[in-house]
Amino acid sequence: MGEKVSDALRFYIKTYGCQMNVRDSEKVYCILREAGYEPVDSPDKADIVVVNSCAVREKAEGKIYSEIGRLRRMNPKARIVSMGCVAQFNHEKLRKLSSAVVGTSKIDSFYKMAHSGRFEGVYVDERMSDPDHIFPHKPSVSNFVDIMYGCNNFCSYCIVPYTRGREVSRSPKAILDEIKRLVDSGTKEVMLLGQNVNSYNALKGGFVELLELVNGIKGLKRIRFTTSHPKDFSIELIKAMRDLDKVCEHIHLPLQSGSDRILRLMGRRYTAAEYLEKAMLFREMIPEGSITTDIIVGFPGESDEDFRKTLQIVKTVQYDTSFSFKYSPRPLTRAAKMEGHLPEDVKLERLNELQELQASITQKRLKEAVGKSFEVLVEGPALKGEMMSGRNRQNVVVNFRFKDNIKEGDLVEVRITKALKHSLVGEVSC
Ligand code: 5AD
Ligand code: SF4
Repeated sequence: MGEKVSDALRFYIKTYGCQMNVRDSEKVYCILREAGYEPVDSPDKADIVVVNSCAVREKAEGKIYSEIGRLRRMNPKARIVSMGCVAQFNHEKLRKLSSAVVGTSKIDSFYKMAHSGRFEGVYVDERMSDPDHIFPHKPSVSNFVDIMYGCNNFCSYCIVPYTRGREVSRSPKAILDEIKRLVDSGTKEVMLLGQNVNSYNALKGGFVELLELVNGIKGLKRIRFTTSHPKDFSIELIKAMRDLDKVCEHIHLPLQSGSDRILRLMGRRYTAAEYLEKAMLFREMIPEGSITTDIIVGFPGESDEDFRKTLQIVKTVQYDTSFSFKYSPRPLTRAAKMEGHLPEDVKLERLNELQELQASITQKRLKEAVGKSFEVLVEGPALKGEMMSGRNRQNVVVNFRFKDNIKEGDLVEVRITKALKHSLVGEVSC
């Protein structure tokens, strides 16, 4: 590592998809930087263009092929490296369009390519190279840390188990060492990442024990995590969230559907009543906490009545935010072969109705925050004006007027004066 490549080649990384992909792109960015390559702010100036792909919905996958085509026309001399979820499950197609293809389990192949200066070859494997390897990070107030890779749930609509492989938990030592290094370089908050953090199994006490260990790291201020599968979400975890001072009071608990019939077809392994019981227990034990979710509308066979059941749960739980999607058939998945696929216009109508309902709930919840004070971790200047920006423990963006003595990484108390569509505005009260 560290040896300079002659005349610093320039690189650009385009990232699609979820937080796992964002973290993987950060790994690649740091590997290339450490090997002496220079980042540039647009792909036409780059010698190497990395495209990190998402396969979760058809549209996202299609975008990758058109984006690579566009990049090749825009910058025919650049070497294109495709990586991510599409690279993992459809490397045959991507190898024709790019000079190198890197699957989700082979991020370490960037070390080799960077040092040889040869960005070519296909690096795809079912198994993760070394899950405990500690990849570098960009210095930041808040950083993502992988605690596990892959997923074993095989929900019937989801391609992720095929693009990210079987579940593997990283050792607590690797995770704790990685976080300690981050804290030494200024990190205040970590977001622990896994497709299903509740099935973390490298410790006897599972994910809760991991949270306890991370909570003990000196200098770290906040811990977040995502995603929790409702079937494994437990009272022990709610207690840990309540009792461990650094663990933020926000849970992302993907509902997917409020109909038991659809949940069964989805292979989710919980009923709407079981989900509700857990969500309401969280509300009861952590009243100031926030709950967010993911919902799919228009799953094969979903009737209007099924969809109404989803709306009902949204009303009962009063989610702070929800991410909702039209069902999209994916290769290799069981749902793609089911009967009763719905027309696009029905899916769109349901999506609009759900999103309207959610927007009104989000607005109501944000307005309830006006007049209250929240602890905000300062992340930097806001996008607009003389404002600074951060997030409260509930994961809502809070903007406030710039003050001389406040800097990135500080924890400040902010009294909320106004609710915007997706964020809050306030004044620092100390
Ligand atoms: N179609 C639509 N949405 C999907 N998701 C996963 N697979 C699909 C699919 N085939 C959604 C789920 C998941 C989120 C990350 O993406 O809601 O929680
Ligand atoms: Fe996909 Fe289900 Fe695994 Fe989430 S838990 S990644 S929805 S298979």
